[in-house]
Amino acid sequence: MKVAVFGAGTMGSGIAQVFAAKGHTALMYASSVASAQRHKDKLAASLNKKVAKGKMTQEDCDALLSRVLVEEFEAAADADLVIECVAEKMETKKELLGRLDAICKDSAIFASNTSSLSITEIGAGLKHPMVGMHFFNPVPAMKLVEVIAGANTPDELVEYIKNLSVEIGKTPVVVNEAPGFVVNKILIPYCNEGVCVLHEGVASAEDIDIAMQLGCNHPMGPLHLGDLIGWDIVLNIMDVLYNETHDSKYRANVLIRKMVRAGKLGIKSGEGFFNYKK
Ligand code: CAA
Repeated sequence: MKVAVFGAGTMGSGIAQVFAAKGHTALMYASSVASAQRHKDKLAASLNKKVAKGKMTQEDCDALLSRVLVEEFEAAADADLVIECVAEKMETKKELLGRLDAICKDSAIFASNTSSLSITEIGAGLKHPMVGMHFFNPVPAMKLVEVIAGANTPDELVEYIKNLSVEIGKTPVVVNEAPGFVVNKILIPYCNEGVCVLHEGVASAEDIDIAMQLGCNHPMGPLHLGDLIGWDIVLNIMDVLYNETHDSKYRANVLIRKMVRAGKLGIKSGEGFFNYKK
C-alpha cells in the first residue's frame, strides 16, 4: 500500500516509520521537499541508534528507510491512503485536503490524525470520505489507535481503518466524534491539573511527577508527559475542549499559556517544566 503522510513532525515521522516497518511505502511530506528530507534524515539517525544498540538489524533499518520516500506533492496522486498530521488548525487542514481531494484517485482513503478537532468539519465539502486515525506519541511505542467516525464517515471505512490498524501492529478502539475523543478528553485535563497543582504551590514539579509515577504506577508524571506531548498541543486541545463545551472544567491554566508564549514547549524546544538541553 502507498501511504502519503502529510506533516513530518514527531507524529508524522512516527506514522511513516510504522507503515514502512510493515512493508508499506510511506511518502513523507513537510512544508517543502528539503524539510521532508531533513525529517527523513532525523528518522534515519534514530533508527541507526537502534541498530547501534543491537535492537534492529542494519538490513531491516535499510529496508525500512528505502520505503520512506520524499517526493513532490503530485506523487500523492496514486496514494491508497492519505494521513494528514499537519498543524491543529482547521483552515490549514482544510486547505491541504482540498488540494489533495482534487489530485488523489477516487478510491484513496482520507484520514486525519487530529488530536481533538471535528472529523465531520475537516471532511466537509470533500469528495473523499474522511475518517479519524489518531496515533499516540511516541508512535512506534504506543499501541493505541483511536478510529474516529465523523457524522459522514461510512461504516466500511471505520471497519477498514480498524483492520489496517491491527495489520500495522496497533490496537484500535472505535470512537464517536466528540471533542478530544476518549484519550485526550481525559488525559489533557489531567496534564492541565498537574500544572494547576504546581501553580497553587502544592508541590514542586519533580515531586508532582514522582507522586503520580509512584502513587499510580504511571510511566511518567503529568508535567513530563506534557513536556513530551508539547505544551502548545496541550493548550490547543484544552482550548478546543473549552470552546466546544463552554464547560469551565476545561479552562487551561494560565501558566501553560505563559510557557507557550515563552517558547517553553517541552522536549521539542529543549525546555518545558524540565530541562532537556544537553
Ligand atoms: N520514538 C520511538 N520509540 C521510542 C521513543 C521515541 N521517542 N521513546 C521510546 N521509544 C520506544 C523505545 O525504542 C522502546 O522500544 P524497544 O523496546 O522496541 O526498543 C520503548 O519505546 C520503551 O522505551 P525505553 O525503554 O527507552 O523508555 P521507557 O520505558 O522510559 O518508555 C515511553 C518511554 C514509552 C515514552 C514511556 O515513558 C511512556 O509510555 N510514557 C507515556 C507516553 C504517553 O502517555 N503517550 C501519550 C501521549 S498523548 C498523545 O500522544 C495523544 C495526543 O494527541 C496528544
